Amino acid sequence: MRFDKHIFICTNQKAEGKPCCGEQRGMELVVKFREVLNKKGLKGKVRAQRSGCLDACDFGPSLVIYPDGTYYGHVTPDDVERIVDEHVINNRIVGDLELSW
Ligand code: FES
Repeated sequence: MRFDKHIFICTNQKAEGKPCCGEQRGMELVVKFREVLNKKGLKGKVRAQRSGCLDACDFGPSLVIYPDGTYYGHVTPDDVERIVDEHVINNRIVGDLELSW
């Protein structure tokens, strides 16, 4: 497998008034994830990138981490370091942010 973990962060922007993650909020998360991953020496092992709609629009900003297939919602930049420490490094799901349908 190319990466240990692959984080897809929705940056989809819908029309005014429709629920969505939004380009600005999504890109803030992309930048923050890359900053934290670099700081923790995970560059090249874990990839964080923007994605299109993940069909979790009501819970945005949302993201999914593979290969686990775990979805997180209502994520803010302040949550990123905790997601990296808990989920990415220690394989522990961050329960209060996890989306489960
Ligand atoms: S707009 Fe982000 S999940 Fe649909």
